[in-house]
Amino acid sequence: MWEYTDKVLELFYNPKNQGAIEDSAEYGVKIATGEVGSIACGDALRLHLKVQVDADKILDARFQTFGCTSAIASSSALTEMIKGLTLDEALKVTNKEIAEYLGGLPEAKMHCSVMGQEALEAAIYNYRGIERVAHDDDDEGALVCTCFSISDSKIRRVILENKLTTAEEVTNYVKAGGGCGSCLAAIDDIITSVQKEAVAALNTVTNKSSTQRSPKMLTPVQKIALIQKVLDEEVRPVLIADGGDLELFDVEGDTVKVLLQGACGSCSSSTATLKIAIEARLRDRVSIDLVVEAVEPSLA
Ligand code: FES
Repeated sequence: MWEYTDKVLELFYNPKNQGAIEDSAEYGVKIATGEVGSIACGDALRLHLKVQVDADKILDARFQTFGCTSAIASSSALTEMIKGLTLDEALKVTNKEIAEYLGGLPEAKMHCSVMGQEALEAAIYNYRGIERVAHDDDDEGALVCTCFSISDSKIRRVILENKLTTAEEVTNYVKAGGGCGSCLAAIDDIITSVQKEAVAALNTVTNKSSTQRSPKMLTPVQKIALIQKVLDEEVRPVLIADGGDLELFDVEGDTVKVLLQGACGSCSSSTATLKIAIEARLRDRVSIDLVVEAVEPSLA
């Protein structure tokens, strides 16, 4: 039995905006429709948008969903969230925000929020006459999970957008791996590859901002001040942009203790990779002898 929030149950028992929006002859208004999933796979969602053409604004949104409690609630939440937004604003709505609107979803049901976000995107691309396959390239990526027809590009995207670190989480978000299981090793490889790319990107960004070499001799106070400066100016902005953050906890000799926060501190593998990246940056800017340690929040 799944644990649902009150909001999920409220929108399941009394869904808002259920149904279709019929084409009308109303001046200055167009209807857009996006459809994702398939009844054969267990979930399907058709989203209808009523768009005010001159303002590119969503006047109304309705849904028709075949699926479970979470799918119905996610669809209903999505329609409530996007009414009144411009299409560009609506495109920024993430599956994470849909889940947050509901007060959270069971991990194994996160794919319902992903389905909502994809239906929204499909509707807007249909409205704009953009081939979704050209934008999303889901169908162009190599097929990883044949049971659910999920490509590597779709798996990469959901890993990046939701900071997933295990194959089990990927299954929860897009179902890949949830059938015969033969694709689980490939999903693990994709996760590793995405994490390596993230570390490389962090190093690239921080290296770009490096304009001076480290001073040779520093007093302890100067060293701590420089470490704090490098963290504040060159490391934290990158982490914050990615949903994380860090705090300088202590400096003992050449050991720099940091407290990883937000998305950065939520999993052991990202903690390990970030430690390597932060350490490389501090060694480059302050002292080659520095070692970074991530402090457990409970010990801080
Ligand atoms: S191929 Fe992915 S679960 Fe079967």
